[in-house]
Amino acid sequence: MKGVVLAGGLGTRLYPLTKITNKHLLPVYDKPMVLYALDTVRKSGITEVMIVCGREHAGHFMHFLGSGKEYGVTLSYAIQDKDNGGIADALLYAEDFADRNSIAVILGDNIFEDDFTHVIASFESGAMVFFKKVPDPERFGVPVFDKSGKKLLSIEEKPKKPRSEYAQTGFYLYDFNIFSYIRKLKPSPRGELEITDANNLYLRRGELYFSIIKGKWYDTGTFDSLLVASQAIARRNKKNDARP
Ligand code: DAU
Repeated sequence: MKGVVLAGGLGTRLYPLTKITNKHLLPVYDKPMVLYALDTVRKSGITEVMIVCGREHAGHFMHFLGSGKEYGVTLSYAIQDKDNGGIADALLYAEDFADRNSIAVILGDNIFEDDFTHVIASFESGAMVFFKKVPDPERFGVPVFDKSGKKLLSIEEKPKKPRSEYAQTGFYLYDFNIFSYIRKLKPSPRGELEITDANNLYLRRGELYFSIIKGKWYDTGTFDSLLVASQAIARRNKKNDARP
């Protein structure tokens, strides 16, 4: 399977840092943010990767990542024309790259401890999303379950009153239908094509699967979450260094 790292958007929540460079090149402890997403994709057995980034600072990505050889992957690049067109809009740019096959998608500001090797190996069709219990679900896409807590009814994007304690993380598996489903979407009230709306389309067709991830997960899109992730990575690195 090929992989796509979505690294577009303006990163306004991290302004003025994002006036200097793209959000995904800012440091999370000792590495630029995008390397964590690339690492997750590579550890999941994917080596052909497309980076979708915005126009602003696009050259910084190529200058830093080059062909991807240094990071164990082969990179292609696409430019999302519309700043903040939304995550689903950004994914449309990877349609030719997907070449009628299923595709793994990761948001460039997400950091996972888990890799996805096993789920990728067993993925056949439809779409798969990954949830994680969090203290602040209102910041994310939030799954709504039935009373048994097992059946997924819908996913609500940043609800004021979250109906579960889970967040939809930024890793997704899609069959090739994703591109025609995205073309059916209308912009949300924030003017973006939402990935959550595409996931709900799969759900209504009975083709959305989910799994709860066990490892730690960080979204690094705000000053506070960037700081929390940096501190956690620093602690993890020091613990690993201290091991005999
Ligand atoms: O982190 C998980 C959350 O990511 C999910 O729970 C939400 O359902 C999902 O909508 C998303 O929410 P965010 O508000 O955190 O998305 P954000 O606008 O920060 O965009 C996340 C990444 O997606 C960003 O780092 C780069 C990429 N992106 C985003 C936009 C708006 C693009 O490539 N193009 C875009 O136009």
